[in-house]
Amino acid sequence: MVATVLVVGANGQVGRALRAASWPADLAPVFLDRRQLDIADARTVCSLCQMHKPAAILNAAAFSHVDKAESDPEGALAANRLGPLNLAIAAEAHGALLLHISTDYVFDGSLRIPYPVDHPLSPLGVYGRSKAAGEQAVAAACRRHLIVRTAWVFSAWAGNFARLVFDRARGGLPLKVVSDQTGSPTPATDLAAACIAMIAQALQDDSSRLFGTHHYVGGPIADRLALAAAVLDEAERQGIARPDVTPVPASTFAAPAPRPAWSVLDMSKTTELFGLPQPDWRPALAEAVQVWAREKETPA
Ligand SMILES: NC(=O)c1ccc[n+]([C@@H]2O[C@H](COP(=O)([O-])OP(=O)(O)OC[C@H]3O[C@@H](n4cnc5c(N)ncnc54)[C@H](OP(=O)(O)O)[C@@H]3O)[C@@H](O)[C@H]2O)c1
Repeated sequence: MVATVLVVGANGQVGRALRAASWPADLAPVFLDRRQLDIADARTVCSLCQMHKPAAILNAAAFSHVDKAESDPEGALAANRLGPLNLAIAAEAHGALLLHISTDYVFDGSLRIPYPVDHPLSPLGVYGRSKAAGEQAVAAACRRHLIVRTAWVFSAWAGNFARLVFDRARGGLPLKVVSDQTGSPTPATDLAAACIAMIAQALQDDSSRLFGTHHYVGGPIADRLALAAAVLDEAERQGIARPDVTPVPASTFAAPAPRPAWSVLDMSKTTELFGLPQPDWRPALAEAVQVWAREKETPA
């Protein structure tokens, strides 16, 4: 039997990776972007669930702009807490499972070992608090939930730190790179494939051991300087001169939102339960840089 999976937030960075991913023949994804479904609208969530009768809902929608969230906490909460709550209530009512994507920003980054899944939440800013509240809402309202925390997501098709570094290099501009943030870069393509695999497995094996919170991130651990260096190495191979890089503390940028200094998540439980290995972010990053190098130049 073919099971319908409602994929919400389908036009975002991860949503686009989910569209491009290969899906098993027994899962039929229905992609809904924000125009088709605003997850903060409980009535539309309900009526689309009634219409599609999904076996699973995959939530890739979020208010993901960390700095903008500081000046729009209501917007952040609508997308990151109320939306997931609506999806969780609908999933529970329709007997669907819910995979909800969350973030390393639910932690304050003060630990110096990879965060275990059950570490107490300690978000620093509005975005992190709204995502933490979303996790709690999902766990409380939907028994068959998979909360998948990820970090430092990148892809060839979205604005992200790696793209910024590449654009500066191509524009021949010097770079200031934060030297005191360490994380787990994660290719959106690998994250999408992992989410699909987790849903497929949880639909087959409905035992409660699979449900709960999981981490899925790339390796090896990198700080921003190492990530920038990997972009510049590949850019050089594509004939783009290496710009000057100055390491600076994050405080130099005076960003509105505080960011965790150590965004490293322990994904051993995910590997153990779902058999998913940790993806190496380096080949995906090199591929993304090759895509950007082929594009027509745009001003940095
Ligand atoms: N990007 C990262 O580095 C990162 C790191 C850790 C975790 N995550 C998590 O990964 C997930 C996907 O993030 P992403 O990078 O793909 O973010 P993204 O590119 O910003 O995509 C999010 C999508 O959600 C849509 N959206 C916002 N509010 C909505 C609503 N009320 N109803 C329906 N759709 C709504 C957005 O539409 P509009 O563009 O029209 O607003 C956008 O298309 C999120 O849960 C995020 O918290 C991301």
